[in-house]
Amino acid sequence: MSTALKQSTPEVPVPFYQPTGNEEQLFEVAWQRHLPLLLKGPTGCGKTRFVSHMAAKLGMPLYTVSCHDDLTAADLTGRYLIKGGETVWVDGPLTRAVRNGGICYLDEVVEARKDVTVVLHPLTDDRRLLPLDRTGELLEAPDNFMLVVSYNPGYQNLLKQLKPSTRQRFLAVEFNFPDPDTEADIIMRESGIDAEGARILVRIAGNIRNLAGIDLEEAASTRLLVYCATLLKTGVAFDDAIQAAIIEPLSDDRDIITGLREAIGIIRG
Ligand SMILES: Nc1ncnc2c1ncn2[C@@H]1O[C@H](COP(=O)(O)OP(=O)(O)OP(=O)(O)O)[C@@H](O)[C@H]1O
Ligand SMILES: [Mg+2]
Repeated sequence: MSTALKQSTPEVPVPFYQPTGNEEQLFEVAWQRHLPLLLKGPTGCGKTRFVSHMAAKLGMPLYTVSCHDDLTAADLTGRYLIKGGETVWVDGPLTRAVRNGGICYLDEVVEARKDVTVVLHPLTDDRRLLPLDRTGELLEAPDNFMLVVSYNPGYQNLLKQLKPSTRQRFLAVEFNFPDPDTEADIIMRESGIDAEGARILVRIAGNIRNLAGIDLEEAASTRLLVYCATLLKTGVAFDDAIQAAIIEPLSDDRDIITGLREAIGIIRG
């Protein structure tokens, strides 16, 4: 089974991240005190960027796993594989991070199968242990191991909530869309667009976000605004950029799409 895994090396330059609150301080305390961290917030609000930024800042390898509903404990811990006629144990990303030190980031952790929590529990309380039943090992996490998980509470249904006994093992930080000035800065920095253009996009997003919950499942994210600004920067016409980067990704419903176009036309005028 394929596990979406990315491992970044400590040499990578620190990716740009604009803090929106005390999240960097909390991350650093969690790192120093060996506490696991849970990040929650809507799509495209900077959770993944934040973790890459902090890992690079701390000079630690980052093992990122995108969880999905087929992800099992063995995908994280490892399994026996046949290699050249021999059976060899191959560590999974979580085990590698525990053995070698580093930050293991489980993105959309609520999607993972239930047996994953069995592995996470002894690792996320003060024991910091990773039992590998298949090899008979009991690994103790080193001081430079940290577990970070994230999820989007908006996507959850009742079956997909983390159990209290899991949630209450983590420090938790809530992410949300940045204030307008900060968001405009992020858009400028990410796309190279000018301040006036960024400001217009933030205003449009603000208005769409006020509509969210009524017609839309999720609001226009910072990610979509960066996409839109990138299109504008490369010379795509304003209406086309808005259509491709903001309106179409938000909905498939023609009435909603028409409503959004009208709302944006009004805001712009
Ligand atoms: N605070 C921020 N600093 C810098 N860039 C940001 C920030 N917030 C959002 N972005 C921009 O938005 C994009 C999307 O952010 P990111 O991928 O971190 O979102 P996410 O919260 O992980 O979303 P998802 O839940 O869908 O995985 C980034 O690639 C970056 O361009
Ligand atoms: Mg993400």
